[in-house]
Amino acid sequence: MKIPIFLPWINNNDKKIMLSSLNSPNLTDGPKLDEFERIFSKKVGCKYSIGVSNGTAALHLALKSMGITSGDEVILPDMTFVATANAVILCGAKPVLADIEKSLNISPESIKKKINKRTKAIIPVHFAGLSCKMDEIMSIARKHNLIVIEDCAHSLGSEFNEKHVGTFGNAGCFSFYPTKNITTIEGGMVITNSQEISNKIKQLRNHGLTRNLIQRSKNTKPWIYDIEEPGYNYRLDEVRSSLGLSQIKRFDIITKKRVNAAKYYNKKLQNERGIEVVNHEYENIHVYHMYIIRIKPEFGISRDLVHKKLFNKGIKTTVHYKPLHLFSNFKKLKLKNGQFIESSKAYKECLTIPLYPTISKKEQDYVIDNLLKLRK
Ligand SMILES: Cc1ncc(COP(=O)(O)O)c(C=O)c1O
Repeated sequence: MKIPIFLPWINNNDKKIMLSSLNSPNLTDGPKLDEFERIFSKKVGCKYSIGVSNGTAALHLALKSMGITSGDEVILPDMTFVATANAVILCGAKPVLADIEKSLNISPESIKKKINKRTKAIIPVHFAGLSCKMDEIMSIARKHNLIVIEDCAHSLGSEFNEKHVGTFGNAGCFSFYPTKNITTIEGGMVITNSQEISNKIKQLRNHGLTRNLIQRSKNTKPWIYDIEEPGYNYRLDEVRSSLGLSQIKRFDIITKKRVNAAKYYNKKLQNERGIEVVNHEYENIHVYHMYIIRIKPEFGISRDLVHKKLFNKGIKTTVHYKPLHLFSNFKKLKLKNGQFIESSKAYKECLTIPLYPTISKKEQDYVIDNLLKLRK
């Protein structure tokens, strides 16, 4: 049997809707984007949603719209995909890495230690689909007057105290990359309750133009617009917006299937010697972008060997992620390994095993049986 680590779920309805959007006279910056943004706002409970070309663009524009620039420092977790830090670097600012907790989410205690005069913002990442401790993080931010931009790339549908992630800080940023909880193939979204931030991001995603295509086409002089500052082409086109619309309409089913599959792994793996199931105690509030276990010394063979032997059985696994402080571009920041006790430990032990909405019990059993057979 061959089991991928992830499989996107694009159904016939998704395909039909995408095809029909090709008949639209506006192939980009059009009504499907508007509708996707409206439904997204309703789903997460925010005032404004701004669709963009990917999750990195969402983070970049959120930071830009709030004036993050050179000389500023932004605190983010050592354990995240590099895009979180790259967005800060693209603004000319400095990423400051904080350690994580056992949950794999950023540690509020570590954030406190990294704050100084230059600190302007915090980017908590709701890792793998579990919300960070937003009460503690918001209280630190209020005390030090810091901007909070939530990286929700993994966590559409995830809540903290019954409030959707992305609605605690000044903005929340989502990715719709194929592995994410819904996909537009490539795509992203910024959410905010600030009209000022929303307007700014809408301009910046469209070359800095003060009026978009729909607004200009209603006017007899479509060339009348202003440029207040240079922007980017970070637009989300109509075909991908229509896929997003179709996916978000069946988001509850997609999530239920993911979560049910994760709960099945939890039941089968949580009491097995040498395996620690990460965050199984939060299974009722977790949206399981990824399913992560830790291979402990009592398992009898190393995590790397488990990965190799499963690969030989046709089962793909991987590690999310190599901590940022280990990459060449971050070594320049002269960070000390000792600052990252939990992320370094997680990097040694964690293994992401196959999870996707359409995974069958038979496929999961194949993963579980082969994993347990490796134990010494
Ligand atoms: C935590 C995190 N932030 C940001 C991103 C960037 O999203 P995108 O790939 O859509 O640019 C990703 C993407 O994988 C991610 O995992």
